Amino acid sequence: MATLTFVGHSTFMLQTDHGARLVIDPFLTENPATDITPEDLEADFILVTHGHHDHVGDLIPLARRTGATIIASYEIASYMEQKHGCPVSPQHIGGGVNYPFGYVKMTAALHGGKLDLPGAEGFTTVPAGFLIDLGEGQRFYYAGDTGLSMEMQLLKGKVDIAALPIGDRFTMGPGDAVTAVEFIEPSVVIPFHYDTWPEIKQDISAFVDAVSGLANVQVMQPGGSLEF
Ligand code: NI
Ligand code: MN
Repeated sequence: MATLTFVGHSTFMLQTDHGARLVIDPFLTENPATDITPEDLEADFILVTHGHHDHVGDLIPLARRTGATIIASYEIASYMEQKHGCPVSPQHIGGGVNYPFGYVKMTAALHGGKLDLPGAEGFTTVPAGFLIDLGEGQRFYYAGDTGLSMEMQLLKGKVDIAALPIGDRFTMGPGDAVTAVEFIEPSVVIPFHYDTWPEIKQDISAFVDAVSGLANVQVMQPGGSLEF
């Protein structure tokens, strides 16, 4: 069994049934949704969708302490390698790589590209999501920060569990997230990127009602886990 833990806001941990420890978009210290610190997490791989502060806030300390390999766009990977000496595995939109734990494909996301880290000028990039294929029944799509896009239709039949942002303002809102579920047809939907701040406050029960006929909705609380 793989174990997916929601740290809060946009940060997830995924432990595969082979024991690999993945952290996605580490944002802890200034994350109002969690008390977990970078010292609490272990990681073999850190996956980064894009450079905004609420996704990379603790990337550098976590990478330094764990020695984890950074899986990110070429530009973010280059920054972490050149500026911080981290082991990296650069990828880009549409491309996948076989890792010891499974296959990771970088998916398109409609969002901003700024890298909010010191000395990152020149490392411009585009944002992404990840399709993490751990095997049959364990295909996890983490959309990252994105608006609804037609590209999501390409994921139909390829996703068992989909984590989708629903906070509106900076990403899809609940209504477009329902359309994303219609496009992708996952078995399980996990909403994230909402309620962390007043600007992205949402009525989660309304979203659950709207999507429950389409997929099994798992509303994860910070610190909560899901096995699949
Ligand atoms: Ni963002
Ligand atoms: Mn964000």
